[in-house]
Amino acid sequence: MLPTTLSSLHSTNVTPTPSVSPLSPFSPSSSSSSSSFLSLPSSSSTQRRRRRLNSLCFFGDTHLRISPKPKGLKVKCLVSEPLKVMISGAPASGKGTQCELIVQKFGLVHISTGDLLRAEVSSGTEIGNKAKEFMNAGRLVPDEIVTAMVTARLSREDAVERGWLLDGYPRSFAQAQSLEKLKIRPDIYIILDVPDEILINRCIGRRLDPVTRKIYHIKNFPPETEEIKARLVIRPDDTEEKVKSRLEIYKQNSEAISSTYLKIMTKIDGNRPKEEIFKEIESFLLQEQKDTEKMEKSGNTLLESKSHKIQASTSKDNWRGIPTRLNNIPHSREIREYFYKDVLEATQRAINDGRTRLKVESNIPELNPEMDVYRIGTLMELVRVLALSFADDGKQVKVCVQGSMGEGALAGMPLQLAGTRKILEYMDWGDYGALGTFIKIGSVGAKEVDEQDDMFIIVAPQNAVGNCIIDDLKAMTDAAGNRPVILINPRLKDLPGSSGIMQTMGRDKRLEYAGSFQNCYFFRLLYYAGTQYPIMGALRMSYPYRCELYKRIDEPSGKEKYVILSTFTERPTIDEINDAFQGKPRNEAKNTSGIWGFLSGIF
Ligand code: AP5
Repeated sequence: MLPTTLSSLHSTNVTPTPSVSPLSPFSPSSSSSSSSFLSLPSSSSTQRRRRRLNSLCFFGDTHLRISPKPKGLKVKCLVSEPLKVMISGAPASGKGTQCELIVQKFGLVHISTGDLLRAEVSSGTEIGNKAKEFMNAGRLVPDEIVTAMVTARLSREDAVERGWLLDGYPRSFAQAQSLEKLKIRPDIYIILDVPDEILINRCIGRRLDPVTRKIYHIKNFPPETEEIKARLVIRPDDTEEKVKSRLEIYKQNSEAISSTYLKIMTKIDGNRPKEEIFKEIESFLLQEQKDTEKMEKSGNTLLESKSHKIQASTSKDNWRGIPTRLNNIPHSREIREYFYKDVLEATQRAINDGRTRLKVESNIPELNPEMDVYRIGTLMELVRVLALSFADDGKQVKVCVQGSMGEGALAGMPLQLAGTRKILEYMDWGDYGALGTFIKIGSVGAKEVDEQDDMFIIVAPQNAVGNCIIDDLKAMTDAAGNRPVILINPRLKDLPGSSGIMQTMGRDKRLEYAGSFQNCYFFRLLYYAGTQYPIMGALRMSYPYRCELYKRIDEPSGKEKYVILSTFTERPTIDEINDAFQGKPRNEAKNTSGIWGFLSGIF
């Protein structure tokens, strides 16, 4: 039960977990961008290497199958079902335009609430008469009218058999919840992202052909003939004033709707030529189809498929992405694998987006170096998954563990890292010689950066009493230039000696440097202050998505589950977390805690 005040809610570095991974946006364009990293001989040898690295790796009594491509990590339905797609975006973001193309290619049943409503209006039905005033004013038509219309349409045979493409619904949190209650979920939720000023211009220039229902734009897509031009009509809600109101309403609702579909959400840049946008959408949908087929054929024996199965079934139960039983240590293999995949996907996305200074902070109980259960084996497994996957993409990866710091009798290294390098060397990196070719093991420092290295993974870099790793780390990142450097569970804050002070100079510079790494993944469990049981909730951020706040709930059946409470553009403060737990409205004007937030806050 929640206490009346949550002021004592805090987060320890314990944590949770992996989760239903968001749809992996590895579009052909992203994979081609990743291949620009290659310093590889030839594409055929890359492919050979990929095949070779696609092997089973063993560590202790665990094993993990490394997927040849991160694309295989997507959340999927196992049953042979036609595609179910939702497309969303601000007014005039191009939903209708893209839907025309999607329908041509995939044969889905296009269900546009705007079109359905306009048809009712022009037929003068009761629904149409009610809807008209809302539409003409640029406001949303009441939920009950639209929801009844949509659910009736979705249940028709053609939609069930051919799959559907839902356009313009849900447009409010209540509408999204109506679908959830009916267990109607898409495979993919696409958002078209277009800047406001472009949207207004698009609306004002939009023209519709009442005969073919084709969408034109007086400048962007003029009609093909004078005859068509003569019959084009302007939508009554396409005035500048009404577009602004529609846009405002869209913005007010979009965040709440997205929170329902975070795990399957794909944001697409809609400010490009329509063919280019379609190409990207097409690649996602084709991948969805392929994954389904592949999983059906594989009989779900692969570990990868097993994860999907769990994800798919749990998503039907409204599972939000946080595995349960996180207080059981050691974690089950399943939990660890979810977690590795979650981190991998986020890291891949960040690197494909050209980010180069990244950090992963994943403090499930087993991976928290500040706790007694810190398991170096779990950390190494995570590192191996990342390294093999990037190597599989043809990159030369250097995995680095800091060596001893200090001089002479004062030399030392953090206890947690003692022996880590040896463990890395003894680990099973697959049967095909990834270690020593595509993966190398090194230390931390500028001299570790070789010309042929494409990226660096640094294992839990941390300060020790009287010694600071940051100078070596900085020299290394400077030498790495624009090559990615990923810190895994770094601990770069000062570590004071028994006298209570940090024994090295330059604190400001250290903090500034530590702050220059961007989180591509973050996970942390939330507890009440001074306790580590029970778990109250969790925070998760997976690049490029928002930070998600979850609450853990004990169900009457004795099971537990995590429900999403809110999402944030930045990691929330303790006050924001408390407010969300207490159901208070969000204060968007976030207090700026500055550097003290970093030093003294929960994080
Ligand atoms: P609806 O018809 O769904 O309107 P909307 O969401 O505002 O979207 P639009 O149809 O305006 O734009 P679009 O994204 O389809 O863009 P398009 O492809 O046409 O809904 C209308 C009204 O119905 C709502 O305001 C509401 O009142 C009511 N309603 C609907 N659903 C509801 C619900 N669920 N609940 C409550 N009420 C609901 O493109 C726009 C223009 O840009 C065109 O001219 C096109 O040619 C051009 N264009 C498209 N792509 C590009 C590109 N890539 N580059 C350049 N130009 C482009």
